[in-house]
Amino acid sequence: MALWSGRFEQNPDKAVADYSQSISFDHKLYKYDIEGSIAHAKMLSHQKIISKAQCDNIISGLAKIAKSIDSGNFEFRTDLEDIHMHIESALIVEIGDDGARLHTARSRNDQIALDIRLYLRDNIKLIIDKITFLQKALLETSKANLKIIIPGYTHMQRAQPVLFAHHLLAYIEMFSRDKSRLRDCFRRLNVMPLGSGALAGTTLPINREYTAELLDFPEVSRNSMDAVSDRDFACEFLSNLAIFGMHISRLSEDIILWSTSEFKFIEISDDFCTGSSLMPQKKNPDIAELSRGKTGRLYGNMISLFTVLKGLPLSYNRDLQEDKEPIFDAIETVLKILSVYPPMIMKIKVNPGKALEAASDPTLMATDLAERLVQLGLPFRTSHHRVGELVKFCNDNNISMNKLSFEQLKSVIPEADTECLNLFSPESSINKRNLTGGTSFHQVGLQINFWESQIS
Ligand code: ARG
Repeated sequence: MALWSGRFEQNPDKAVADYSQSISFDHKLYKYDIEGSIAHAKMLSHQKIISKAQCDNIISGLAKIAKSIDSGNFEFRTDLEDIHMHIESALIVEIGDDGARLHTARSRNDQIALDIRLYLRDNIKLIIDKITFLQKALLETSKANLKIIIPGYTHMQRAQPVLFAHHLLAYIEMFSRDKSRLRDCFRRLNVMPLGSGALAGTTLPINREYTAELLDFPEVSRNSMDAVSDRDFACEFLSNLAIFGMHISRLSEDIILWSTSEFKFIEISDDFCTGSSLMPQKKNPDIAELSRGKTGRLYGNMISLFTVLKGLPLSYNRDLQEDKEPIFDAIETVLKILSVYPPMIMKIKVNPGKALEAASDPTLMATDLAERLVQLGLPFRTSHHRVGELVKFCNDNNISMNKLSFEQLKSVIPEADTECLNLFSPESSINKRNLTGGTSFHQVGLQINFWESQIS
């Protein structure tokens, strides 16, 4: 018999019960549901709505239920719909009538709004810690390869030399913004909804501030209708994870490209790759590929919740039960990514010869030459044009830019001085980019020191 069965003559059809149950997934919330119920019972007793003895009875009953679920001995049944009904029914079986007092001044609508917030608070902290661990892996790999220079790319064309560490540190920046977004989301979801009832609060003299204090919420929700129907924080959370996935996907793409025979800048450790069942020579970067692929799930989860909420009238509607699976799936996906990614990064081996060969392409220093001409007094547009002509001259004459004689150089760029012939070392090119945010050894060292102080 369902706890709400008073006005019904028939139990729900079996197919209806299967269709509407959420216990198959919301059982994940049991700890938070019990934590919320204990605080609620304490508040009811504090307000003398139930007695101290009844409250103690409820708390010890809930503790027993928590133990039984922990140990896997608790029976979940679809006819009891959701985690809230399971725990409340078990409590009534366990302690009798006192258990039937727990739901005083509470609805499942404010109860679930509380449970997801408690659940997300813990998971946001966990994800932030694990992103920090990934940042550490990127930082260690940057430090272990401090001297490595690679071409930086724009439009997937070789552009200018950069330190490999500079490239990895760019991802540390992205992941730090992901953490900051999650902290921001935490702040906005850290509001206590209990006491909003089904939608319009309660006639009983409860004390919401007291419940908030017990559950470590800095504030209580201001509007009961908003509180039971608000899932903005879950939208934000899923957007944050989608953006994180986008960053992982971009990093994965870099790693995949760098590990191809065409680039060969890095080698991914054997234990983070798999082979082909058909082609014996293959070693595939599956972890990076799967992470790039899983980003699709993260986007899907975000869109799914946005779509559930679009056009929902106030206040609680059962559609909101559909918020949980996207949230759970996104968390599970992100935690899986974060368990394999840091060790994969740490074990990457850089191929210094291949990196240097690619970074020594003299055309990567064409901008340096244009900037030298600016120092000699040419307007940048003119110098850009002159160097473009020089590139064409080199192509037409099949000569490398760093092999030009001074006469050949002068024939195309009359304003050039002999210093222009000395611009083709990737190391010195890098070191001249010594401004805040630049890729010089000095600046990258400063970035490393900064992150070392932030994330260790
Ligand atoms: N299982 C529901 C959910 O996840 C709990 C709230 C249900 N409320 C209701 N009145 N049916 O949203």
